[in-house]
This record gives sequence, structure tokens and C-alpha cells, in this order.
Amino acid sequence: MKLAVVGGGSTYTPELIDGFARLRDVLPLEELVLIDPAGDRLELIGQLARRIFAKQGHPGKISWTNDLDAGVDGADAVLLQLRIGGQAARNQDETWPLECGCVGQETTGAGGLAKALRTVPVVLDIAERVRRRNPDAWIVDFTNPVGIVTRALLTHGHKAVGLCNVAIGFQRKFAALLGVTPEEVQLEHVGLNHLTWERAVRVGGEDVLPRLLAEHGDAVADDLRMPRSLVDRLGVVPSYYLRYYYRHDEVVREQRSKPSRAAEVAAIEQELLGLYGDPKLDTKPELLNKRGGAYYSEAAVALTSSLLRDTGDVQVVNALNNGTLPFLPDDAVIEVPATVGAAGAVPVPVRPLEPLFAGLVAGVTAYEHLALEAALKGSRDRVFEALLAHPLIGQIDYADRLTDELIAHNREHLTWA
Ligand code: G6P
Ligand code: MN
Repeated sequence: MKLAVVGGGSTYTPELIDGFARLRDVLPLEELVLIDPAGDRLELIGQLARRIFAKQGHPGKISWTNDLDAGVDGADAVLLQLRIGGQAARNQDETWPLECGCVGQETTGAGGLAKALRTVPVVLDIAERVRRRNPDAWIVDFTNPVGIVTRALLTHGHKAVGLCNVAIGFQRKFAALLGVTPEEVQLEHVGLNHLTWERAVRVGGEDVLPRLLAEHGDAVADDLRMPRSLVDRLGVVPSYYLRYYYRHDEVVREQRSKPSRAAEVAAIEQELLGLYGDPKLDTKPELLNKRGGAYYSEAAVALTSSLLRDTGDVQVVNALNNGTLPFLPDDAVIEVPATVGAAGAVPVPVRPLEPLFAGLVAGVTAYEHLALEAALKGSRDRVFEALLAHPLIGQIDYADRLTDELIAHNREHLTWA
């Protein structure tokens, strides 16, 4: 089995390698290619990846290249984890929306739209090149904003599934609180990428969410940085990305008073690169846990394995709606439990979604549709429409100002601007 990772020079890659090494029975890799345009960094990460495999006795061969076409040749699956413009572009996404009193976030709101506009054309080009070489290869997309990027891939007919670590994070967290293994916990996870709620937590077929909240409600709410009373009132567990909606203005005040997450991450990355250069390092360093990507390697291994080995098990992924949430278009991409096998990811049926959640899901889905239109066809009017439709923006003056800011800050990445 051969896998290629686009964005393989990321400081996150050792997390992935660690997962591949530990879970080699689930995903028996013979060959792994790391692909990245950043040569120095790629060499550093590649060497560390080899040391991690060697230490764990993994027989797989690891190589690296900046030649995408050569790197993906013969791959059974291609993982996309790239970031156009790096942390510098993210820093901007997290900063200029604040001037309009809007959240500054890499996937939510105006910053998320900027990221989508920079990313979608590049990802589609990569996917096209993958398809030309290997028409049967699967694309596993971690690249944010995962909902919009996956929708772009699927509506262009690519064999793709979108992946995020929010669900697996909850599964692990709840399992620990309940004193059971993660495999015993099944989530009724529903919504869109970075806009989800856990409506039930099943162990042995029984919904233990009421008990989980009664016994551990404070721990669950603290983790989300939301009030316990909100979680109790909703009776479901929102993802921490819902904080950008439910506590929007508070988040904006907080963001204005401290350095951006991108600045924090850039500092962590510098330190990580220093550690990775040590030829004695042969494990994933503790410092990597300061990043948000916990368990993403395990989610990636599980998904890739099910796609390539046709297991037909159920995992939370991003897939085409196709009637699952009847109030959304079929070509919307939703994040729900899905049966995963050689035919891809097929959502399992979902109970009707309560209006308390459905309104937001419908609004953000419409925004994602317009965001994708803007990313594909590129014009000031399309950017404005997407921003106007976003539930966190919605006013013409803000949408106009944010459109100008978005274009001004991203000109070098937007061919049409
Ligand atoms: C979570 C999200 C990812 C996001 C990451 C950011 O893992 O699911 O989509 O990229 O957090 O983490 P960072 O350390 O870059 O802030
Ligand atoms: Mn995510």
C-alpha cells in the first residue's frame, strides 16, 4: 500500500507518522511519500519520519519530494494537509476581521472565506493531477476549510472524503470520562465541519449522554469554554467551534486583547523545528500536543484503512448530503457518521434536526455554497454575497468592508483580484 501526503513538510507530520507506526496492523503501509514545496523543512521532517519508523520497527519505506506528479504516482491514497500562505496568511485571516467587530478565525467567518478562496483552486489542481496519474486513488482531505474544500472535490467528481479531528476528540474525551474504551463509544454527531453537535453518546447501544452530563457536565463545558448551563439547556454537546457563534462578541473582545493563534502556532513551530533537527529524536515530541490536531493520525489511519480495505464500518466524516438532512441540497457536504468502504463514505440516516440547530446549519450551508462559487469563479460581488449570507456577518456595511479587506490582504493568492 502506498500513501502520499501533500503538505508532508508540515510540523504536524510527525503526529501522522507516529499514528502510521503505531497502527501498522490497521494500515499496512509499504511506501510513504511526503510532498511539499518547502525543501529544507521537508528534508528535516522526512529524516525524523524515518527515525520514528525505524524506532518502532516499521518496515515501510519513506521518501520525500517537491515534485507532486512523481510523488503521487502509484499512490492508493493521497492525504491533503496543506496551508496556502502558511501561518502568515492565517495570521491575517485572524486579524483583519476584528476591525469590523467580527471573529478572526481560520475556518469560521470572513477569515475562513479567505482561506477557502486561497485553497480551493490549488486543491482542485492537485486532485486533477492525482486523478490523471491514479484514477482509482482516494483523496483524504484534512485541508481547511474542510467542508468547502470537500464540497469542491466531490462536486468535481473526485474520489474524496473530508476529515476533521473534532469527533474523534470527543469520542476519546467521553470514553475517558465514562471509563470505557474509545471503540465502545458511538457518537450521534451532526452538522457541518466545525459546526456540529453531539446529540447522543452511545455505549452498548444505550444513550449515556444524560448521565455523562449529569456526572461530568462541568468538565465537558470547561473544555468547550462554554457555560455549563448552555450545555444543560441544549441537552447536547456543541463543538468548541460553536463558541464563535454562541459567544461571538466575547471571543472578539478576547481576540483583540492577545496575540493571534497563528502567532502562537508560529512560535510553537519554531521550537518544534529546533527539536526535529536533533538526530537523536525518534519520537513525536510532547510539544506537538500544544497544537489542535490531537488524534488526527488515528482518524486518518482508520478512514484510509476503511476506504482501501472496504471494511464498511461507521466513522464520522465529511461526505455529500444526498438527502440525509432533507432541508439541505444534495450536493452540500455534511459531517456525520457514515459507512466507509470501497464505494466511499455514505452517511447513515439522521433523525430530523431540531430548529435550534437546523437554522444555523442551513445558513452556513448556503454560505458554503456561495463561498465555493466565489472560490471557483472569483469576483468581488461573489465574495460580498458569501459574506452577506454568513450568519455571523449578514449586514451590507460589514460585508462590503470585509470584502475589501479580504481582497486587499489576499491579492497575491487570488488570480482574479
Ligand atoms: C483542530 C481542527 C483543525 C484545525 C486545528 C487547528 O484540530 O479540527 O481543523 O486545523 O484544530 O490547530 P492549531 O494548533 O493549528 O491552532
Ligand atoms: Mn477540523
